Amino acid sequence: MVKQVRKPLMAGNWKMHHNHFEAIQVVQKLAYRLEADDYDRCDVVVCPTLICLRSVQTVIESDRMTIGLGAQNCYFEEKGAFTGEVSAPMLAKMNVQYVIVGHSERREIFGETDEVVAKKTRAVLGAGMTPIVCCGETLEEREADQTTEKVSGQIKAAFHGIKADDIAQCIVAYEPIWAIGTGRTATSQEANDTIGVIRSVIRQMAGGAADQVRILYGGSVKPSNVSELMGMPEIDGALVGGASLDPDDFAKIIKF
Ligand code: 13P
Repeated sequence: MVKQVRKPLMAGNWKMHHNHFEAIQVVQKLAYRLEADDYDRCDVVVCPTLICLRSVQTVIESDRMTIGLGAQNCYFEEKGAFTGEVSAPMLAKMNVQYVIVGHSERREIFGETDEVVAKKTRAVLGAGMTPIVCCGETLEEREADQTTEKVSGQIKAAFHGIKADDIAQCIVAYEPIWAIGTGRTATSQEANDTIGVIRSVIRQMAGGAADQVRILYGGSVKPSNVSELMGMPEIDGALVGGASLDPDDFAKIIKF
């Protein structure tokens, strides 16, 4: 299978930005800027903060927008005494379709291990949603030539024991940590090469499913660099942080 059959996907990770009033405005402005053929060419997803999900979901559904809804995190248990956490079935019940799992900020700031990322990946799949599994190396690891080892280990851990059919439904985001929020993008060649490594790891684990998995690049994606990145054969879309907060910029990225 070649890239053309994998529909590009542009996901905006709003991180801890936009209160629920702002989130509603941004999704409305974004929808206003997009046309039917943008959605035909490309899947569009927004991932607001947890407390904005309900407001954004209501706007998406009442205005019949073709924008997908994603959460930035969830817990792997279904219910119980886990103060402050939200479960995958709770998100699914609210028509959330995607959940970002194992973002480097969760791993670095909140101590999420590969094991936790694997449990969350299973929980999201089990609730019928699509995990966006993140991986990526630090600058030190890149400079020490450990990129392949790092991302391969993260991907093997996240998908360990998951059936090939389920892996095929997943999305992966390769986000080199040194390129996140720094203005420094991996070159399109660097991104393409590492995504190629990720796809070959998935092929070892799940055979032909590797051709179905959409693998996104993330890290300082902007309207000015998206076309070059999307011109690479292995890159199926982008997980966009800063530039997705502005509906004009995110619309330009979607229309790459
Ligand atoms: P920036 O686009 O702000 O670099 O963030 C990337 C990211 O972490 C998306 O998940």
